[in-house]
Amino acid sequence: MTELKKHLLPMLGHTRGNRSAVTCTLKCSNACTQEVCNTSANSYFRDVASAGFSRRSMLGAGGAGALALIFGGAIAGAAPAAAATSGGLAPAAKIHGNRSKLQFTGIKAVDSAVDNVTVPKGFSWEPIIRWGDPLFTDSAEFDPEHQTPESQAGQFGYNNDYLDIIEIPGSKGRRAVLFSNHEYTNEQIMFPDTMSASDIRRTGMAAHGLSVVELGRKAKGQPWRYVRGAKLNRRFLLDTAYELTGPAAGSDLVRTQADPSGRRVLGTLNNCSGGTTPWGTVLSGEENFNGYFKVSSPTAEQRRYGITSATTERGWEIEETRLDLDIAGNENEANRFGWIVEVDPFDPDSTPRKHTALGRFKHEGANVTIAASGHAVSYLGDDERFDYLYKFVSRDKYIEGDKAHNMTLLTEGDLFVARFAGDAPKNQIDGSGTLPSDGSFDGVGMWLPLVRNGASMVEGMSVEQVLVYTRLAADMAGATKMDRPEDVEISRRTGKVYLACTNNTNRAKGTHPGVDEANPRRENRNGHVIEIEELGEQDSLAFIWNILLLAGDPAVDKNVYFAGYPAHKVQPVSCPDNLAFDAAGNLWISTDGQPGTIGRNDGLHRVTLEGPDRGKVEQFMAVPVEAETCGPLIHDEDGLVFVAVQHPGEDGSWAEQHSRFPDYVPAGGRPQKGQAALPRPAVIQMYKGSNR
Ligand code: FEO
Ligand code: CA
Ligand code: CA
Repeated sequence: MTELKKHLLPMLGHTRGNRSAVTCTLKCSNACTQEVCNTSANSYFRDVASAGFSRRSMLGAGGAGALALIFGGAIAGAAPAAAATSGGLAPAAKIHGNRSKLQFTGIKAVDSAVDNVTVPKGFSWEPIIRWGDPLFTDSAEFDPEHQTPESQAGQFGYNNDYLDIIEIPGSKGRRAVLFSNHEYTNEQIMFPDTMSASDIRRTGMAAHGLSVVELGRKAKGQPWRYVRGAKLNRRFLLDTAYELTGPAAGSDLVRTQADPSGRRVLGTLNNCSGGTTPWGTVLSGEENFNGYFKVSSPTAEQRRYGITSATTERGWEIEETRLDLDIAGNENEANRFGWIVEVDPFDPDSTPRKHTALGRFKHEGANVTIAASGHAVSYLGDDERFDYLYKFVSRDKYIEGDKAHNMTLLTEGDLFVARFAGDAPKNQIDGSGTLPSDGSFDGVGMWLPLVRNGASMVEGMSVEQVLVYTRLAADMAGATKMDRPEDVEISRRTGKVYLACTNNTNRAKGTHPGVDEANPRRENRNGHVIEIEELGEQDSLAFIWNILLLAGDPAVDKNVYFAGYPAHKVQPVSCPDNLAFDAAGNLWISTDGQPGTIGRNDGLHRVTLEGPDRGKVEQFMAVPVEAETCGPLIHDEDGLVFVAVQHPGEDGSWAEQHSRFPDYVPAGGRPQKGQAALPRPAVIQMYKGSNR
């Protein structure tokens, strides 16, 4: 075994919380074992109850003045003029759905040793595209024993996370474009032990990035097949040029010796979730980019982003020297990662962009809607313990049908960070997860401005500094420290916003902040989901919120909550990560970490939001052993559900694979053409009936 592969095997006992040690090492550079990045002393504000207000009282005409009183003079000028909830969406953005066409009987939670995809009775599944599938006519066939950087560059990448499938207009539902990103690589199961360290590094690089792939099918309602050699197929690699846009583009903070313009960045790293814009482009979040950079003496700003003097996991700086921040001229290279990326999947010649106006942090994803005012509004999670929820509001307005104009909307606008205030007396939030006497964890919130009308709202920081060092700006603004904000999704039916806080077992440890009403569990192993309702329009400056779910296994955990639905009637769910909606407005949750918390494979769950069954959780599917469920996509009108299966069998090794998903060629078996006897992250589709 090469030294690099030995290094990539995680240190035993190194993991905490829910994840496998391998995920900790390779996905987020052991973020949980490092010191918490956020050491800021955000002051806590008056609790709402002592000020005499409840969440519901905010809906009345006095809401604006009440918020100013609660949150103090610093933001009094930002309080909203009106406080009646309207759903906040432009009429065109609403979906007039009905009861979902996808009827299924939920599955039971699946033991974490099972190496199968589990779907409801009467349903089938099949892959659409797998790691290594060739995208172009001249791409090499997948050959796991002999992968090279060149072959990988022409094939679908590893560890698919965000997923969307967008029908090509005019194709009568028979053609679509699939977008996925490739968050990280599991070298110890991907490559033979005989492969050289340099080949491992360079092939791993080519397995990162983004993919656009055309799909085809016979008719609507049929499963999709990917089309090799189609004209929209594209891979985005570490040498793909991205344009940096917005106020921080070209600033001193993002210039390097290799790019004195500060406007042209090569590559994208550790892309996690994403979003699809109303104008048909796709967004992708650069998340744990910190682990790819080598530096011997990190600055305070770098440390706030988790960049340490530790040896990099993959040693890519040996091949790609700009990742070595100790080399003169490279100092700012890490500032060119940690952005929201926008890609036009319909234009294979377009230059992808990184938008500085949306701030720099460990972006999970970005979802965009159009407010009634016409401004584009995007919600953004920073996935780290004690980091924040953000909102961006575009300066300019959306123009229906004008794609070129709409593609400028994310380049200029206002950036806010969320502050949550509970409405229960503080002594009722005791860390156990027991509901306060008013029956729910809820309250009001403010969007604290970081950038407004092109100006910095943070004392002592320029606009460029706020956007490049957004975490530090938000610390100074006094944002609420959250339990790892992952996906944030907007219901097209109601305009309500749903935030997945995946987990945080450190909330009340040591010097960390204690519980608050928005993060009410001391040992939050299972995570929670917050429902947010803007006061007024989607671009409002204030909101009300309540905790929809405190996740867990009701058979074991007493401190769970499912919007008041009887806990003994729901399926266990833990570590909510990605969220989605079906056409009927139900919320779907995919999970990341259930094997470590409730001993079950990760899966995809449907949550009813409206009516008497609000809070009912049913499980639709489970992914195979050691995998995470990513990119859920519910095309219930089309009878199809999709997920991106990430890191199946990740605790195995080349010689001892733990998973055979998705080809299920047994060890020593003879694979058919295109198949392989090792785990392959893949996008799969599920539908009623047998395989077609
Ligand atoms: Fe890549 Fe936040 O999960
Ligand atoms: Ca995620
Ligand atoms: Ca995750």
